[in-house]
Order: sequence, then C-alpha cells, then structure tokens
Amino acid sequence: MGKIYGVISIKGGVGKTTTVAALGAALANDFGKKILLVDANFSAPNLALHLGYVNPKITIHHVLENKANIKDAIYETDYGFDIIPGSLLYKEVDPYKLKDKIEILKGEYDIILIDSSPTLNEEILATMIASDMLFVVTTPDHVTLSATLMAVKLARQKDTKIGGLILNKVYNKKFELSLKDIENAANCPVLAVLPHEIDILEALAKNKPLTLHKENEAAKEYKNLAGALVGEDYKEKGVKGKLKQFFRKRKKQDMNRIAFKMKVKRFS
Ligand SMILES: Nc1ncnc2c1ncn2[C@@H]1O[C@H](COP(=O)(O)OP(=O)(O)OP(=O)(O)O)[C@@H](O)[C@H]1O
Ligand SMILES: [Mg+2]
Repeated sequence: MGKIYGVISIKGGVGKTTTVAALGAALANDFGKKILLVDANFSAPNLALHLGYVNPKITIHHVLENKANIKDAIYETDYGFDIIPGSLLYKEVDPYKLKDKIEILKGEYDIILIDSSPTLNEEILATMIASDMLFVVTTPDHVTLSATLMAVKLARQKDTKIGGLILNKVYNKKFELSLKDIENAANCPVLAVLPHEIDILEALAKNKPLTLHKENEAAKEYKNLAGALVGEDYKEKGVKGKLKQFFRKRKKQDMNRIAFKMKVKRFS
C-alpha cells in the first residue's frame, strides 16, 4: 500500500507547490517510485500550471462533484510522475470527499503527494484528514512561523502525524529565524533547508520541477529529503560528487533526515 503525504502551510507563497513538484520528480526519477501529485488547493489550483499543463479537461473538481471517475482525472506527465490537476474556474466543491476519492489509488502508487491550499478552512482540513503524514513548509520569519505553529497545532488536533518542517527561502541572514528557533517553537524537526534561489524561479519559468532543471544545492536537498521519505540514501553521481558528499559536514537537517529514515525503515 502506498502512502499519502500532504504538504501544507497556512500561508500563501511559501513554496508548497514548488516542493511537491520537486519532491515528486526526485521520488520518481532518483528513487524509481510510482508517484502521483494531487492539487488540493481547490480555490486557487496551480500545480498543473507550474508544470506547464493548461486547462485540463477533467480535474479533481469534477471528481469531488461526482461528475468523473478519479482515474479519468489522472494525467501522465513528462516528468516521471502523474498528476491530478484542479480547475481554475469552478464552483465550490466538497473538499472532505478528497480522502475517500484518493484512498482507492493507494494500491497503485508508492506515494501520493497532496499540494494543499493555504486557506484555513475546510480546504486545508481536507488535506489533513486525507493524509497519512504531513509536511509543513515554512520560511524563516515570525509571520510565517506563527502560521506554521497554527498548522502544527491543527494537525495534532486532527491526529494526523507531522513528518517535519521544510524550511524554504532561506537567505542565511542574521535577521532570519534560525532552524533551532523554528524547531523549538514548533517542537518539530526541520527535514530540509532550501535557500532562496534564482534557479527555482528559472525552473518555474521553464515549467520544470527544480530537481529536473538543475543539480544545485537546493535540488540535492530535495533529493535527500525524497530519500528520507522512502528510507533510502540519495547518492550523488560521479567520483567528485561522491567525495564531496562523503566529506560534507553534517547539518541538523541531515541528522533529522537520518532519524526519519530509520523510522521509515523500521515501519516498512
Ligand atoms: N526557495 C525558493 N527560492 C526562490 N523562489 C522560490 C523558492 N521556493 C518557491 N519560490 C517561488 O515562490 C513562489 C511561490 O511558490 P509556490 O507557488 O510553490 O508557493 P505555494 O506555497 O504553493 O503558494 P500558494 O499557497 O499560493 O499555493 C513561486 O514563484 C516559486 O517559484
Ligand atoms: Mg501552491
């Protein structure tokens, strides 16, 4: 049986969709997993647009309205994973049907990643309820941290496990909150730290997941996170890459991923 992992935040623009696309591509291409990405940002869906697919005919909205079978809303992409897109112009749907609709696909995929809405209403609750585990995307500022704390609290109330935090758009400036500050406040491990990176904007302009666009530090971080999710190590290619990886000083997020990986191995 596959797992359903939700990528959430109660703040727009922090990098949920970027993360879902990059992680999905890494899981599919670097770890050979069968992956489905679902757009559950029902009022402002844009996962398909991130990947260059415009105006899909059948979407998650049709499925939730019982107007289409979920299998007909699955599209194969050029990036090694499948997606279920959303409709940009569509009247309201019942988000709570999400769980039942996607659960039947668990037998067909290793991992289903849900790209959540940032809106604190039934849209984000639907992702929480449908997920086996949640990952909260945050940025290193107090405004986003307060939204992150709320997301963590809500997930705990809903009894959905939180795998960890993904710290995005980091400039490494003194005025930013540190990883330690964020972990202490949320009582949750940070599993990946992504720099604020122009290549991510370039990847978006080219409609490509970052991990298929460039092999930079951010892409490697996503690949390491993907490895942790499936209990495997990401091995850099080439002698130089392998040596660099071997001698690299381990950071807190590396240690957190090792702990996460051990748990995945124990329970699989
Ligand atoms: N690490 C990063 N460095 C630079 N730009 C980034 C980074 N992560 C994401 N972005 C950019 O930030 C913008 C918002 O990202 P994204 O759409 O993934 O956020 P989101 O959390 O899904 O937003 P929403 O809540 O509106 O769905 C995009 O233009 C994306 O390319
Ligand atoms: Mg998004």
